Amino acid sequence: MSDKPGSGASGPTDLQDILRAPGFCRHSTGHTAVVEWDADTGWSAPAVGPYATLPLDPATLGLHYGQAVFEGLKAFRGEDGSVSLFRPDDHGRRLARSAERLAMAEMPADLFTRACAQLVAAAEEWVPGGYGQSLYIRPLLLATEADLGLRPSRRYRCVFLAYPADPCFGSGFRPLAVTTATETVRAVRGGTGESKCAGNYAASLLTRTRAQAAGYDEVLWLDGLDRRRVEELSTMNVFFVWRDGDGSRLTTPPCEGTIVRGLTRDSLLTLAGDLGLPAVQEPTAIDDVVDGVRSGRLAEMFACGTAGVVVAVGRIGAGGEDLTVGDGREGPVTRRLRTALLDVQHGRTPDKHGWLLRVGATGAAHAHVIPTDAPHTDEGGGRNA
Ligand code: COI
Repeated sequence: MSDKPGSGASGPTDLQDILRAPGFCRHSTGHTAVVEWDADTGWSAPAVGPYATLPLDPATLGLHYGQAVFEGLKAFRGEDGSVSLFRPDDHGRRLARSAERLAMAEMPADLFTRACAQLVAAAEEWVPGGYGQSLYIRPLLLATEADLGLRPSRRYRCVFLAYPADPCFGSGFRPLAVTTATETVRAVRGGTGESKCAGNYAASLLTRTRAQAAGYDEVLWLDGLDRRRVEELSTMNVFFVWRDGDGSRLTTPPCEGTIVRGLTRDSLLTLAGDLGLPAVQEPTAIDDVVDGVRSGRLAEMFACGTAGVVVAVGRIGAGGEDLTVGDGREGPVTRRLRTALLDVQHGRTPDKHGWLLRVGATGAAHAHVIPTDAPHTDEGGGRNA
């Protein structure tokens, strides 16, 4: 078995070994789908082929001026063995929105979904079956025209990569330790904060690396104006679970141009409603979070994202203090919401919001036909777990 990008697996035994514990994006399936755009001819049809390096002129516009946006979405195996993409059209729409902000070509969502469906069909045997496992798809849209004049490119290439993945970067849902940033900010209103552009992630790396050296997993970014309101983490959105009488109330920072419009975040807002848990988008001051942890009013806090899924935050560094959220372990609301999401993704509960798109071996996509009467087993009990 090899860990080299694009190397795939050399045989069925290798593949089963990989699928048992794939980690996060360590093993490419060895396939790509490519869609290209040219100002004169428009969008090409998706072409699925073997993983290959990109032939890029060193003067490529996307490398110099940062016209590079990406997505992350997943295909899941249902308990009947079928494979479905989760909210591919919504991911396609978000890629187009990111692209628009960077003056790039906006791919139609149906073309995006078709490319994902064809890629998954080609790599179908690579979709793991364990609960929470998935085939992670990484579409990257890059400006490929060579020119050093500052202007939008007239050519783009979208490369779709695929990797079997364990949930939450392979961490096993260990609660995270996060810390606020005191020197740097991630985004300001009117900037590119909500766009999944490569530059936003690059801009977060210095602070994140320093936070990790200090013993934290992630940076809890505050607003770029007065660093008072909580925004998101470098790789995930964030939710708070407040005690409210005998029940709980969930809040998450609103999308006002500075945070990524997480589709996991959006799904959880909907699923919370389904479960009868009040959940709202509401600005949250870091001071209220600190007070809430101290008083016990903040019962739980969790992070969410496509790669990360739903993972508890157990510790917060803020204002020179280290605070433990609750007892530092995953709380019941966090676990309940993660299970609700994964149950839909694996076809264990009805897909009543139409989020699943079944993809077949031919690449043809048949919407919303995963049977939902499969017995529910405990988390972690899938085929490869
Ligand atoms: C995802 O969760 O899919 C993302 O794109 C975040 C990335 C930093 C892994």
